[in-house]
Amino acid sequence: MATATLAKMQKMLKGIVPDIELAYKAELVDEILELKREKGAIILGHNYMEPALYHTIPDVVGDSLELSRKAAEAKEDIIVFCGVRFMAETAKILSPEKTVLLPAKVAGCSLASSITAADVRELKARYPGVPVVTYINTYADVKAETDICCTSGNAVAVVESLPGDSVIFIPDEYLAKNVARETGKHIIFPSKRAINDPDNQLDVQMVGWRGRCEVHDQFTPQDVENVRKQFPDVVVLAHPECPPEVVEAADFSGSTTAMVKYVQATNAPRYLMLTECSMADNIVAANPEKEMVGLCSIRCPHMNEITLEETRDALKFMQYQIEVPEEIRKPAYRAVERMLAIG
Ligand code: 13P
Ligand code: SF4
Repeated sequence: MATATLAKMQKMLKGIVPDIELAYKAELVDEILELKREKGAIILGHNYMEPALYHTIPDVVGDSLELSRKAAEAKEDIIVFCGVRFMAETAKILSPEKTVLLPAKVAGCSLASSITAADVRELKARYPGVPVVTYINTYADVKAETDICCTSGNAVAVVESLPGDSVIFIPDEYLAKNVARETGKHIIFPSKRAINDPDNQLDVQMVGWRGRCEVHDQFTPQDVENVRKQFPDVVVLAHPECPPEVVEAADFSGSTTAMVKYVQATNAPRYLMLTECSMADNIVAANPEKEMVGLCSIRCPHMNEITLEETRDALKFMQYQIEVPEEIRKPAYRAVERMLAIG
C-alpha cells in the first residue's frame, strides 16, 4: 500500500485530482519509481503533463528547451520522455547511444505534422541561401533539412543570432508572426507560385509557414476582453503559439517555464493562463496561494496520451523505443546543437 506517497499526493493535489483517483494513482507512482530505480532510468516531464504525473515521477520537469538540455546531459542509459514524440525524438538526436522511451505509440503534435521534409526542400529551392530556423515542434527529418532549431524560449535570440536580414521560420504561423513583431521583420507566407517566379524574391525578410497548434489556436482576443471585464485585476499570460492579437492583448508571453516563473515571481490577485490547461493546475498545486481564472479547459490530446499507466508500461516493457536513422540524425543534431550553443 502506497501510504506515504498517497499522503504526499493528497497534501499537494487535494481539490485538483479527485480523491478516488489519488489512491489508485499513488499505487502507480510507487510502481513507476521502483521500476525507474531498478532500470536506472531518468524521467523527463513536460510542463503539460497532468498534475498527478507531473508532481510525482519526473526527475526533471520543464519546457522544450530545458528538457532538450537535460536530455543532452543525462548520465542514465534510459530516458523516459513524458511529453510528445518530437520531444522524445530530440532526446534521441542528442543522445543516440541511449534508449529513449515515449510512453505512447503516437503522441503527435499538430505543428509537427503540418510540414514535411519535402516542403522544406521546396522552400529552400525557392529562397536559396536564406537560413532556415525550425521550431523544435517538428520531426527529425524536417530538422535535418534546416540550419538551426529554436523553441518558444529562445526563438527571438535564435533569429537575432543569424548573420543576414532574411530568415525562413517554420512551421508555426503564429510563433513566426510573434517573432517577426519582436524582431521588427516583415513576414510573408509563400503562395503556390512557381519556384522561379521573381516575385518570390520581392521580400524575404521572414518567410513563414501556416502550421498551427490546435490548442493555442482556440484562444481569442475576445476571451481576454471578457475575462478582463469580469476581473479587471487579472494578469494574462499567453504562450507565443497563440494568435498575435491574443499575445498583444496579454500582459506576458513566454515559454511554458517562463510562464511558470512569471507567476511564481509576481503577486497578482489572479492569473489567466492562455495555454494547455494542465499548466494552471500544476502551478496551483505547487503554489496554493495563487488564484487562476478557469476560462476553459483545453487539453492537448497528444500530451494527454501520456498517462501514469502508459509510463509504467514503458518502463516495464521498454516501449515505445524512439529510433532516428543516422543519415537523418546527424544533420538534425547539427541544427539542435547550434540552438543549444546559443545559451
Ligand atoms: P514550450 O517549449 O514552451 O514548453 O512549448 C512546447 C509546446 O508544445 C507548447 O505547446
Ligand atoms: Fe503540439 Fe500544441 Fe500539443 Fe504543444 S500543445 S504538443 S504545440 S498540439
